[in-house]
Amino acid sequence: MERIKIADPFIDEEVEQLVLQVLRSKRLVSGALVERFENELARYLSVKHVVALSSGTAALHLAFEALNVEGKEVVTSAFTFPASANAILYARAKPVFADIELETYNIDPASVEERVSEECVAIEPVHLYGHSAKMDDILSIAKRKGLFVVEDAAQAIGSTFRQSYVGTLGNVGCFSTYATKNLHTIEGGFVATQDAQIAKKVSMLRNHGQESKYTQLELGYNYRMTEVQAAIGLPQIKRLEELIELRRRNARLLNEGLEGIDGIVTPIEKKWSRHVYHQYTIRVEPEKLGITRDKLAAKLLEKGIETSVHYPLPVYLQPYYVKRFGYKKGMCPNSELASQSVLSLPVHPSLKQEEIERIVNAIKEIVGHH
Ligand SMILES: Cc1ncc(COP(=O)(O)O)c(C=O)c1O
Repeated sequence: MERIKIADPFIDEEVEQLVLQVLRSKRLVSGALVERFENELARYLSVKHVVALSSGTAALHLAFEALNVEGKEVVTSAFTFPASANAILYARAKPVFADIELETYNIDPASVEERVSEECVAIEPVHLYGHSAKMDDILSIAKRKGLFVVEDAAQAIGSTFRQSYVGTLGNVGCFSTYATKNLHTIEGGFVATQDAQIAKKVSMLRNHGQESKYTQLELGYNYRMTEVQAAIGLPQIKRLEELIELRRRNARLLNEGLEGIDGIVTPIEKKWSRHVYHQYTIRVEPEKLGITRDKLAAKLLEKGIETSVHYPLPVYLQPYYVKRFGYKKGMCPNSELASQSVLSLPVHPSLKQEEIERIVNAIKEIVGHH
């Protein structure tokens, strides 16, 4: 039986044609396509500025550089991909970890409130799996305390908070276009902002701090996006809504199939957010299900179904963070519980209905649910 993959990067004929066209043109860098990619994303998100970059990590790094957070603290989620926190360290600031709400796996505003100190200059919510964080509470804490908001929207292009796209609500939104993302350029990313100063600074820093060719004003980096990357991403922008709807359909079918299994908590979508299901992530309650998360994953793999754990450790319990900051277990209980119990199932747009049925039936068989 064919293996059901956890991700299936989008490549169609239009992508192939455009990539070939770029390769044949020999205009591989600093051409028209990166600019078109930026303009079309700005239009999609309704923001004034988009700056394309080499990765989502670069987007976060340059957002923090542009806001000049050096020597200060930034509060972020304990339950995220380590890049969210690493970028704070690159900008010579200190990440402070807030716990999550188990319901959406996103940063808990009450925990943020507790962890904002006198040294804090910014909050970095992460819109994990493609569902918005509680942006009204986060923006109001930021306003009250005079803090910047840098949104880590790496996993969440197209997700909304009320009427706005995530990544457009704070001072800067940072997106990843890594191969498995809902819109990808193999590797890549971008920042979105309404602030012309921030956009200018980010675009200078992505190219060695040069204001114009060979006039360097600051210490910058090589975080540029290539024309080939833009050629892969561009055709996906106009298909993004369709691709998101396919993910949402798949998520609905999985929800329906897994409904009523005691010990499996399916993802929820709050009425104030559109979930774009970059990941469809369940939580396993082993005492009710009669099997652990890791055993379930192993048995699914035996049946040809890939799964993934996002993420097996809260960031502060990563060996590097323990070594550097001396963090201990118990700091963010919900993040620790989530890291032991979450499991992402395939939800990508190219899944067929029969494959979703196969996933559901395999889980039911494994846990003995009829
Ligand atoms: C939440 C989160 N933040 C940041 C990143 C970094 O993005 P990139 O891999 O494009 O550097 C990722 C990437 O997977 C992510 O999931």
